Amino acid sequence: MITGHFPSTRLRRNRNSKAVRALVAENHLKPADLLQPVFVIPEADSTTEIPNMYGTVRMGINPLLDYVGQLQELGIKGIFLFSNIPAEMRNSSASEAFNPEGIIPSAVRALRAQYPEMMLIADVALDCYTDHGHDGLLINGEIANDPSIEALCQQAEVLAAAGCDSVAPSDMMDGRIGCIRTHLDETGYDHVRIISYACKYASSFYGPFRDAVGSGGVFKGDKKTYQLSPTNTDEAMHEAAMDIEEGADMLIVKPGLAYLDILHQVKATFRKPTLSYQVSGEYAMLQAAAHAGIVDWDQAILETLMAFKRAGADAIITYAAKEMAEKLNRT
Ligand code: PBG
Repeated sequence: MITGHFPSTRLRRNRNSKAVRALVAENHLKPADLLQPVFVIPEADSTTEIPNMYGTVRMGINPLLDYVGQLQELGIKGIFLFSNIPAEMRNSSASEAFNPEGIIPSAVRALRAQYPEMMLIADVALDCYTDHGHDGLLINGEIANDPSIEALCQQAEVLAAAGCDSVAPSDMMDGRIGCIRTHLDETGYDHVRIISYACKYASSFYGPFRDAVGSGGVFKGDKKTYQLSPTNTDEAMHEAAMDIEEGADMLIVKPGLAYLDILHQVKATFRKPTLSYQVSGEYAMLQAAAHAGIVDWDQAILETLMAFKRAGADAIITYAAKEMAEKLNRT
């Protein structure tokens, strides 16, 4: 029970030195709390800049192998893999999503051979592979739920076969977690984890990501028929509950800062490992503010990451993971 009256109680006494502030810190951030998204491109030796992402780059396999080695040294435990393939390889059936020799399966095989301990978390969704940039299959002008699930199951199997330890469905089709779980179990991959984007909102903060994966140019309209409405909380809880019943091992709430209430409620209610995704637009916005001299980057980014911890995140997916791990290791 918290109680106390002024002047016998002065809360500032426990804030009046750096030492005591460290002692009473209720939340802590360490490199193992951070997960780094990476964007893979086919040109093996290349790195390319992503617009508005302030130094975040797409990488071919060779720079990526180096980069993941550095992440491991820093104490980061996992990466989320996304791809950017040439426009001519994208089509209405997203066939490249289930090509065992495709860019992500190939990258996963190479990474797994060199880094057996690193969590390789592969995105399950079709937006990087369709010629319209939606996460599911477009049939008669609609994102068709059940045919999309079949494609997602194939994609998950190919990713599991390549050696990823976790698949992360970010597509928001109904029922996909259960179907992917059953499919992985039946194909010999019952050890592969499902990290579900359970509460993924139709957000305006995904813009730089869509440029990073190359779907931004072709994508028109919105994803409101499958991603959650920012107006809703109960519906997000329903999504989380169903994904747990269907076999999700971990849950993601996305975006981050604008959905701290959802993160807190999901963690407090279900007590499952719960991840927050500080998405591309949030990262870009903070960087832009820092570059404009409006906020101090180091302090502001740390403050946002601490907010996710305080709200209940077990880990945070952030484009600042590597940089922040370096800084945390130095302090
Ligand atoms: C789609 C996907 C998106 C992000 C991750 N997976 C974008 C979208 O739903 O359009 C966004 C991540 C970010 O903005 O950093 N499968």
